[in-house]
Amino acid sequence: MRRKLAAGNWKMNGLKSQLAELEALAKAHPAPSVDVLLCPPVTLLAAAAQGPFCIGAQDCHPNDAGAHTGDISAQMLRDSGAEAVIVGHSERREDHGEHSDIVRAKARAAQAVGLTAIVCMGESLVQREAQNTLDIIGGQLAGSIPDNATAENLVVAYEPIWAIGTGLVPSLAQIGEVHDFIRARLERRFGAGVGRGVRVLYGGSVKPDNASEIFSVPNVDGALVGGASLKAADFSPIISALETS
Ligand code: PGA
Repeated sequence: MRRKLAAGNWKMNGLKSQLAELEALAKAHPAPSVDVLLCPPVTLLAAAAQGPFCIGAQDCHPNDAGAHTGDISAQMLRDSGAEAVIVGHSERREDHGEHSDIVRAKARAAQAVGLTAIVCMGESLVQREAQNTLDIIGGQLAGSIPDNATAENLVVAYEPIWAIGTGLVPSLAQIGEVHDFIRARLERRFGAGVGRGVRVLYGGSVKPDNASEIFSVPNVDGALVGGASLKAADFSPIISALETS
C-alpha cells in the first residue's frame, strides 16, 4: 500500500563533479520499482533536477521571502525543481538550535508550496540509555508535524542521533519498536487513512550490507541514507535491497 522510498542525503558534500554519481545511478536503475529521491546541496539542486530522479533539499526557511540573508525558501526550492525537503535533521537541530516548533513551521511552509516534508526525529545515546526513546520521539512527532499532514505531503524519518555516521545501528527489535510507535501515533492523530499512508523511513548508518535486514522490519518503508548515498556503487545496492524487500 505504501510505495517504498530510498532517499539520499548528501549533506554538505558534492561539487559539480558529483553529478556523475547520479548519472551512474540512473544507468544502474533505469526504471526503479521504488521511489528514489536524492537531496544534494542546494548548489546542485537545479542541475540534479534535470536528471531522472526526484530531487529534494535539506532545509528551508519558514517564510516565503524577505530579509533573511543566506536562507532559502520552500518556494525557491520548488522553483529550482525540488519535490521534497528534509526538515528537522538532528544536525540542524544541534548545529542551528532548531526546535520542534521551527521544524513544524518549516514543514508547513514546504507543504504549502507542494513539497513533501521529510520530518526527521531521533534520540541521543543518553536518552536511549535512560530509556526515554519513545518519550522523545513522541514529543518530536507531536511538535514537529503540522496538522494538515497527508500521505503525500509528509514522510517521517526515524534517525537515532547515535547511529548517524557512526556505523552503529539499533537492533532490528529497537528499530521495529520505534517504527510501530510512530505508526500508532500517526494513526491516532491523523486517522487510519493518513496514518497508514505516511511513509516512515529509517536513517543512521544504512549500508549495502545491512539494508536488507533493516528493510525486513515491519513499518520500515525505506531509508534516509547519508554517507552511503554519495557513491552510486553504495547507493545502488541499497535501492536494489529495497526493491526486493
Ligand atoms: P548516515 O546519515 O547514513 O551517514 O549515517 C544518515 C542521515 O543523517 O540522514
